[in-house]
Amino acid sequence: MIEFDRVSFSYGSNSVLKDLSFSIGFEERVAILGGSGDGKTTILKIILGLVRPDSGRVLIDGEDMTDRDEDGLRESRMKFSMVFQEGALFDSLTVKENVAFCLREYDHLSEEDVDARVRHILGTVGIEHAMDLMPEELSGGMHRRVALARSLAACDPKMFLYDEPTTGLDPINADNICRLIVDLAREGTGFIVVTHKVVDALKVAKRFMFLKNGALSFEGSSAELMGAADPDIRRFISELRYGADAQGAEIQS
Ligand SMILES: Nc1ncnc2c1ncn2[C@@H]1O[C@H](COP(=O)(O)OP(=O)(O)OP(=O)(O)O)[C@@H](O)[C@H]1O
Ligand SMILES: [Mg+2]
Repeated sequence: MIEFDRVSFSYGSNSVLKDLSFSIGFEERVAILGGSGDGKTTILKIILGLVRPDSGRVLIDGEDMTDRDEDGLRESRMKFSMVFQEGALFDSLTVKENVAFCLREYDHLSEEDVDARVRHILGTVGIEHAMDLMPEELSGGMHRRVALARSLAACDPKMFLYDEPTTGLDPINADNICRLIVDLAREGTGFIVVTHKVVDALKVAKRFMFLKNGALSFEGSSAELMGAADPDIRRFISELRYGADAQGAEIQS
């Protein structure tokens, strides 16, 4: 379980998170929605211990992260598989080497084993054929899949963290990524997806949070989200009227 207990965080004088409290189980499927700059990525960075809160406590698996040293934070970080917003790949390495790099980081595997695992993981995300391409030769959607594959290779996570996994992708590629996210959660490993794309959040998540001015202004189910009176949330979900029908949008696992 991830527990935030009155967490506040600022970048200099820019107060990003204010007394933020929530609990999320590792098996849950959660979407954190919010506008650009509202602190979504910052929440994920705090979960990973990449930045420390100014005040409040963060508990991961019941353990207080607040005063942990770098080694302690690294150990906790291994519980998560994070796909960063930029999904940065190493430009000078092939797709295969990008994924293999992480395997070599975490495990002591023979080259044959590395090769077999890379093929398997790339097969899982449907881009085995792109194994020998360089990042610059990939489309945006393929790039995102390789970034996903790389995070899958990294460890056997207790939870996946996705930062804007579908932003900038066409609807078909975005839908493919959503399906992958649901597929990967099938074994009971949950996820937190932070996004401003409500359409995609509705496809994957069961619990929704809305971040506004550094605090949660809403928490509930998809039906509750759709019925929320908050004008900011209403504006957010107005995109749905032009696109996907929110009813039955969830991808069944
Ligand atoms: N390294 C940094 N140094 C200083 N300010 C930062 C840094 N990273 C983020 N910020 C600021 O903190 C605030 C929250 O940023 P954050 O990246 O968490 O937002 P976000 O909700 O993920 O936005 P987006 O939807 O655009 O990705 C913003 O005002 C941003 O300008
Ligand atoms: Mg962000």
